[in-house]
Amino acid sequence: METWEAITTRRNVREFSPEPLAPEHLERILEAAWRSPSSQNSQPWDFVVVTERSELEALSKVWRGGAHIAGAAAAVVLVIDDEPDQRLRETARYDIGQASMQMMIAAIDVGVVSGHSSVGEFDLAKQLLGLPDGKLARYIIDFGYPAGGKALKPIRKPDRRAFDEVVHRGTW
Ligand SMILES: Cc1cc2nc3c(=O)[nH]c(=O)nc-3n(C[C@H](O)[C@H](O)[C@H](O)COP(=O)(O)O)c2cc1C
Repeated sequence: METWEAITTRRNVREFSPEPLAPEHLERILEAAWRSPSSQNSQPWDFVVVTERSELEALSKVWRGGAHIAGAAAAVVLVIDDEPDQRLRETARYDIGQASMQMMIAAIDVGVVSGHSSVGEFDLAKQLLGLPDGKLARYIIDFGYPAGGKALKPIRKPDRRAFDEVVHRGTW
C-alpha cells in the first residue's frame, strides 16, 4: 500500500475478525513502535503486547470505552514512567502518540485495522500486565483483521473540522 493510501484508509476500528494476526504482521507493528522518534531519542516507552483472548477480555475492563479490546486479535499497551515532572510527562505522552500512529500506519499497510483506548483503571492495568512499580499503562492500541474480511477503502471525506479553519498559513 502507498503511504498516502495508508494514511487515508486508517480509521478507528472497534470490531475485528477473531482470527489471530500473522506473526510477521504483529512483528512489523511492534518494530514500527520500536523505530519511532522520541524527544532526545529518550525512548520513554515500553510496549506490552497481549494476544490471549482471556487477557484481552480482562484488559478491556481498564477503560469504560475499551470494550472493543475484548474482540481484538492483539493489543499493544503503551507503558511510560509514572513521572511526577510535568515536562517529562508531557514529552513522554507526545512520544507514545507518535509510536501509536506509527503502529497504526504500519498495520493498515499490511491490512490490519486498529483502535485506540485510553486507560482509566491504572492499578488494574498494572496488576494484569505485571508492571513494575513506577510504570504506568497509559494507552492501548488494539489490532485485528477487519470484521467480515473486507479490506477498508480510503476515506474521501473524513469527519474533521474544516481544513481551512485549522490550517493557518504564515500567521493565525
Ligand atoms: C488519545 C486518544 C484516545 C482515544 N481513546 C479512545 C477510547 O478510549 N475508545 C475509543 O473507542 N476510541 C478512542 N479514541 C479514538 C478516537 O475517538 C478517534 O481516533 C477519533 O474519533 C477520530 O476518528 P478516526 O480515528 O476514525 O479518524 C482515542 C483516540 C485518541 C487519539
